[in-house]
Amino acid sequence: MILSSELRLLKGNTQCVARSVCTSDITKEYIDSLRSNNRLIKYSSEKIDANAQANYVERISVSRRDVLIGFFRNRELLGTCGMQELSQDDLWAVGVLLFDKLPRGQGWGRALLWSSCVLMSEAQKAKRFVASTRTDNFAAQGAFRSIGFREITRDDTIAWIGCLASAIEDLDGVYAEGFISTDVPKIS
Ligand SMILES: CC(C)(COP(=O)(O)OP(=O)(O)OC[C@H]1O[C@@H](n2cnc3c(N)ncnc32)[C@H](O)[C@@H]1OP(=O)(O)O)[C@@H](O)C(=O)NCCC(=O)NCCS
Repeated sequence: MILSSELRLLKGNTQCVARSVCTSDITKEYIDSLRSNNRLIKYSSEKIDANAQANYVERISVSRRDVLIGFFRNRELLGTCGMQELSQDDLWAVGVLLFDKLPRGQGWGRALLWSSCVLMSEAQKAKRFVASTRTDNFAAQGAFRSIGFREITRDDTIAWIGCLASAIEDLDGVYAEGFISTDVPKIS
């Protein structure tokens, strides 16, 4: 689906926007980041190149149960958050990717994840989120925990963490400036 609204926010003094990703947003660094993080995210069944990603984004835009949200600083795409509805009961699986060029540990991942969950709970009335991460992916677990996710269960390799949309925490240094409607029609 393409969300018909976007979230404008301030991270510190920096203006950012969270909105649906379009095929025209796919850049070389997007592809490079997907490739280099292939071990951590689940794109392994697809060939990772610009064409395959354009098809992937196109498929998502016509799906009712998938969304790909981009996090933009000015007009520059910094990372993406993919969500897929797992059941009819408003349970959304979340995966997040910050592009490689950004310094880690400065709150960009947290801002990307937070704005995506807030946007989905407002625009799509999503009520519950769940994510699975490798047990050794401490950065991802830290980012999810920092916005209110808590661990549900784990085995040797995978940790499951989840959150009610209503429990998404306010974050220091990240402020929603508000939702604005875009002219993008909702595809259903
Ligand atoms: C996961 C990811 C988005 C985190 O981005 P980031 O900008 O480095 O994280 P943040 O700076 O926003 O940190 C968020 C929290 O995680 C903690 N954290 C970050 N990296 C950490 C690490 N390596 N070990 C422990 N905690 C860590 C931070 O301390 C912070 O917690 P706090 O709010 O209590 O201070 C980024 O590393 C990424 O894109 N990784 C590759 C893709 C991936 O692993 N996706 C997960 C699959 S679902």
